[in-house]
Amino acid sequence: MAKMWAGRTAGETDRVADDFNSSIRFDCRMYKEDITGSMAHAAMLAKQGILTQTEANTLIDGLSGILADLESGALAIDPAAEDIHMFVEQVLTERLGDVGKKLHTARSRNDQVALDLRMHLRAETDGIMESLRELLEVLSDRAAEHEGTIMPGYTHLQRAQPITFGHWLMAYAMMLLRDLDRFSDARVRMNVSPIGCCALAGTTYNTDRRFEAERLGFPEIARNSLDGVSDRDFCLEFMSSSSILMMHLSRMAEELILYSSWEFAFIELADAYTTGSSIMPQKKNSDMAELIRGKTGRVYGDLMALLTTLKGLPLAYNKDMQEDKEAVFDAVDTVKMCLAVLTPMLATMTVKPENMKKAASGGFINATDLADYLVGKGLPFRTAYKISGELVAHCIREGTVLEKLPLEIYQAHCDRIGEDLYAVIDLEACVNRRISEGGTSRESVRAQIAYVKEKLAQ
Ligand code: ARG
Repeated sequence: MAKMWAGRTAGETDRVADDFNSSIRFDCRMYKEDITGSMAHAAMLAKQGILTQTEANTLIDGLSGILADLESGALAIDPAAEDIHMFVEQVLTERLGDVGKKLHTARSRNDQVALDLRMHLRAETDGIMESLRELLEVLSDRAAEHEGTIMPGYTHLQRAQPITFGHWLMAYAMMLLRDLDRFSDARVRMNVSPIGCCALAGTTYNTDRRFEAERLGFPEIARNSLDGVSDRDFCLEFMSSSSILMMHLSRMAEELILYSSWEFAFIELADAYTTGSSIMPQKKNSDMAELIRGKTGRVYGDLMALLTTLKGLPLAYNKDMQEDKEAVFDAVDTVKMCLAVLTPMLATMTVKPENMKKAASGGFINATDLADYLVGKGLPFRTAYKISGELVAHCIREGTVLEKLPLEIYQAHCDRIGEDLYAVIDLEACVNRRISEGGTSRESVRAQIAYVKEKLAQ
């Protein structure tokens, strides 16, 4: 097929080279943005008197016909086309004749591809933010359900202090709230129109960039045409927000895997989100959670790939930049899939409060509270800390726990200890005394849930 850009060159390009050069197999997903962008362009050309209104109407009708035919399946994307922009223009010209050839006036594929990608990613960002809000709803609802469910809190994966499962869930909610902020912030700089920058230098035609931008929902336009066609920061910001989000999802997935093991048995994932083993009949594997953890690496890879592609590029457009799309699309697909699986996985998981409580009761996680009790009785913290440590060591030797240790033993270590200690080291009391803002008490977790709900309502 003759190239639309044939002119300067006349010789046929090599078939393998054509294939190598082509981006249609992945940029075809921007067909809608390409067509709506072209419609706005045609309207602008007519408004400015660069084309007649009749010509613009013909182009717009032709474009909407192509859109309808692509959506109905009446028109198939030609895999031999160089890219989606060339494909649409080619079909338009086949259908409309010479007037189709006028669409590309005062435009270049360089500003066109930047426009399409911004519009496409803007829509995907909106979708991802919506999914994040759903996930936050589920986390908050499950946290409300478990504001009193005691579990061990860990540092170094050693039992540290008692917390509630609600508090644990809300920790992830806070991370996701920041992710939501990051996507929304990235969207501001994504939402800038490059169209009208043309190849690199702007154009001699009397165009109206703001009219076109406004039609396509952009509140701002790129202020420098060289930058406008070369800027892929919006892709990088999207992928770094995605990478941080995936890191959070991966950490949560890791804990879900750990907590659903027999050793912990704090939770059980629904059958719908687990798999069996092909050989071991007893197995229930958390494959989906493992995949969320595993796929995090590819999103980091997508970000690194584009950062590396861009780092040595001279201004303005270079073909290297065609590599942006596969990385961005892969990140989009991966994030969307992970959220689509994780949200119902959390909504349907069974929580096992008895096992959590048992683990919380067996590990001296109230030792800090014992020390704090002694401080309340007038001992300096370091002395209190030492006495508590000795009492823990005694329990370990005797195979018992602080809650069950008789008062005489306590008093043998420190005569200021009284009967009132037992109420203080009760796990429930340990949790609910942690009333500092952001702490694990019922009251504080409720405040955290209210904060998230309020943010979501905004
Ligand atoms: N397929 C190209 C891309 O994705 C479109 C822009 C082509 N521009 C050019 N001057 N060759 O980047």
